[in-house]
Amino acid sequence: MTALPETDVSSLIAAARKARLNAHAPYSRFQVGAAVLDERGIVSVGCNMENAAYPLGTCAEAVALGAMVASGGKICRIIVIVAGGDKLITPCGGCRQRIVELADAGTRVFCAADDGDAVEMTTPEQLLPNGFEF
Ligand code: THU
Repeated sequence: MTALPETDVSSLIAAARKARLNAHAPYSRFQVGAAVLDERGIVSVGCNMENAAYPLGTCAEAVALGAMVASGGKICRIIVIVAGGDKLITPCGGCRQRIVELADAGTRVFCAADDGDAVEMTTPEQLLPNGFEF
């Protein structure tokens, strides 16, 4: 995999923070943003999108990965997830499965608070050991 400059990470954080402001989260009031860089170098963003029928709510990561796929992206090279305030969050179990599906061994996962630097989490394989595949 080609090494990616750290500037890519900061621009992804900025994109995720911007997307977070569009979150539709009237029930939890917990806004999340995500940005992914794919193998083409294209950035796709997402925010969480809740629903009055609660189980229909969608995580920011799912929206961002869906946008990547819809625009023709195949592999997520970097994903950044941003929550509000000084809180760092990591992807939920379902989103770990979604990330693994569209990742490769070089995929990097970063989490950032709204007002701090991003922290690099472990690889998708470490986030979801033995994830479902068939
Ligand atoms: N949420 C995300 O968007 N991503 C995560 O990684 C964890 C949780 C959303 C789902 C819901 O809209 C809100 O945060 C509270 O759980």
